[in-house]
Amino acid sequence: MRIPLCDLKAQYLYIQPEIDDAIKSIIAKTNFIQGEEVRLLEKEFAAFSGARFGVGVASGTDALHLALLALGVGPGDEVITTAHTFTATAEAIYYCGAKPVLVDIDPKSYNIDPAKIEERITVLTKAIVPVHLYGQPADMDPILDVAGRHGLPVLEDACQAHGAEYKGKRAGSLGIAACFSFYPGKNLGAYGDAGMIVTNEEKLAKWCAMMADHGRTEKYSHDCIGYGKRMDTLQAAILRAKLRHLEAWTETRRRIAALYNQKLAGVVETPYEPDWVSAVYHLYVIRVPERDKVFQRLRETGIGAGIHYPIPLHLQPAYAYLGYQRGDFPHTEEAADSILSLPIFPEMEEQIDYVVAQLKVALH
Ligand SMILES: Cc1ncc(COP(=O)(O)O)c(C=O)c1O
Repeated sequence: MRIPLCDLKAQYLYIQPEIDDAIKSIIAKTNFIQGEEVRLLEKEFAAFSGARFGVGVASGTDALHLALLALGVGPGDEVITTAHTFTATAEAIYYCGAKPVLVDIDPKSYNIDPAKIEERITVLTKAIVPVHLYGQPADMDPILDVAGRHGLPVLEDACQAHGAEYKGKRAGSLGIAACFSFYPGKNLGAYGDAGMIVTNEEKLAKWCAMMADHGRTEKYSHDCIGYGKRMDTLQAAILRAKLRHLEAWTETRRRIAALYNQKLAGVVETPYEPDWVSAVYHLYVIRVPERDKVFQRLRETGIGAGIHYPIPLHLQPAYAYLGYQRGDFPHTEEAADSILSLPIFPEMEEQIDYVVAQLKVALH
């Protein structure tokens, strides 16, 4: 049996008529750019996330880049983020000409350790970007508290956290703005690249929309030199069809995570979910001894395990210029050496026992 990390084919088969209709309707209208589906998705996804405005863009990376620019991040500035994230979080900071300043994680949640942020704040700090990694919100209250004391905006990297909740509020409504990715494998995934900025700040939303569309406010009037970072209408139509299922898919992901937790209790270290969050399990991440061996064995038996991420940002060749050393972020490094992502996708409930059985074999 082969069980992928995430099964996009199974999902497509489950909702095929809706997806096919959505695609056909856009082709029939040929409104491929800036079609009304983009505007509708912006409204619907912003509402889903508890925010007033949404700005559809071409990817999560573009969402982060534009939102940081909107916050005034520019050359010479510093932006604080976590050492344990996908490279795009730091890339977006770099694109603005700013320097990513990294912080170690809380080893239980894998998210930025709020207690370690203040010591990294300097006169050059312009923003803080917590990442809601694996679909679990970062501990926002202490982050907002330290940011507030220093007059800094907090931008959520919610690329893995569609619908996740922190103390009853959704990812997307916790900071000044939040950035989502609709990369195909995400909990809400397009059939290509797409992303969105959500915010309660109308000015910020308008500015990002203008910059994503070549700095224009009217067809031939360009107020600023912007970018071509718009969301395709086709992707918006697909995402709207899938958004209708997202609450149910999230419930199923949470149920699968609970079943894994039950079946793996006492076997491996399972994910920690504090009472005040509701995680959406974009990834289900365990810790195991001799991780590389276990990973290899699982792959050999057809289990699409993953490692998110095996090399922390500060040890990536791309970020050598930042001057960090091994040992700078011990909790991040320890996680990178022991974490393992097990398959999780809403259509897999019947396959859990097989994954658990194969994992038990791989551990011995
Ligand atoms: C935490 C995080 N930030 C940013 C991104 C970038 O999103 P995209 O791949 O849509 O550009 C991703 C997605 O891969 C992500 O997981």
